[in-house]
Amino acid sequence: STVDWEIGSYDTAGYQHFLLKEIHEQPAAVERTLSGRLDERFATAHLGGLNLDARELREIRRVKILGCGSAYYAGEMGAQLIEELARIPAHSEPASEFRYRNPVIEADTLYIAVSQSGETYDTLAAVQEIKRKGGRVLGVVNTVGSAIARECDGGIYLHAGPEISVASTKAFTSTVIAFALLALHFGRIHDLSPADGRRIVNALRALPGQIREILDQEEQVAKLAAEFAGTAGAPTEGMMFIGRVRGYPVAREGAQKLKEISYIHAEAYPASELKHGPLALISPELPTVALVPDDELLDKNLTTLGEIKARSGRVLAIAHRAPEAKLADHCIVVPKSEPELDPLLLNIPLQLLAYHAAVALERDVDRPRNLAKSVTVE
Ligand code: AGP
Repeated sequence: STVDWEIGSYDTAGYQHFLLKEIHEQPAAVERTLSGRLDERFATAHLGGLNLDARELREIRRVKILGCGSAYYAGEMGAQLIEELARIPAHSEPASEFRYRNPVIEADTLYIAVSQSGETYDTLAAVQEIKRKGGRVLGVVNTVGSAIARECDGGIYLHAGPEISVASTKAFTSTVIAFALLALHFGRIHDLSPADGRRIVNALRALPGQIREILDQEEQVAKLAAEFAGTAGAPTEGMMFIGRVRGYPVAREGAQKLKEISYIHAEAYPASELKHGPLALISPELPTVALVPDDELLDKNLTTLGEIKARSGRVLAIAHRAPEAKLADHCIVVPKSEPELDPLLLNIPLQLLAYHAAVALERDVDRPRNLAKSVTVE
């Protein structure tokens, strides 16, 4: 059986589209994902549904995350969180590829399936393949009682609430929160110090307020979206999204969102790869959205902006501090979290950017062409 949310049985609560409503629901969704799971005393997270005790978790040598589309990109952010906080090698892969390549299943690898709907056929098939070979799989799933949730050995429910719009926003954000909780929990049974645990706990608690601060800038983002997207009669040719290390999954998700709902072609590249090929594309006709967090790679990112501007590229920076005017034409400033959690906040303006680009181009925002909310076929 499949669990599906019917558009007809929900309303947009005064918002123009479900997508906009869901973008604005994120502070509340994050609070629900965190609710009852933060432990101040031991500076860790409680995740009751993992069905793995500390001793079993200590034996895990590797984490493999599987999902499709945005769930896969959220998994990339999750893999970085696990590596950074728990120092366990972690990697995200499209479930749709994994299931077809006779994957090697290892006893000391923890497999994690990510799915908003819990019904994506490729992800379900990957879970079944792992289980058939004796592997252990956790689910990071929004829909309670869905096929993937039932198939997994344990997991984390997002509690983000129903997501109606085809493009995932609040479930994406809640997925990253769930991974942050898992990484914190993992980290604290390995070598993450109590002080570092507390740093992450405090940062997680601050996120809903910080997301609200970003959403308050919607008017500015809407203006930029209209400028960069063009008009329904003359849409822009395409856009480039770049980020380094923590910023790269943000770029990928940002490009995916723009493609899905505005139909503007978008490419995501690691900023470090630009000079190895895609720099040839840079021109005034192909604007770049650059993720520029204030972290140890800031100088590298600013150098890349210089390289783009030197080739007459237009740059929209998403940053903690606006770069000099000669490096970026526009900037959306987002509040700073801890470096490990910054990607989650950097992604929020990109959701608004995609939404307002789609509105400017008069697209069918909640039901983009050729796509379904959950892909339950091969
Ligand atoms: C997200 O905006 C997309 N519509 C799509 O990539 C989606 O994330 C993917 O199909 C996976 O869906 P799921 O999370 O329900 O498994």
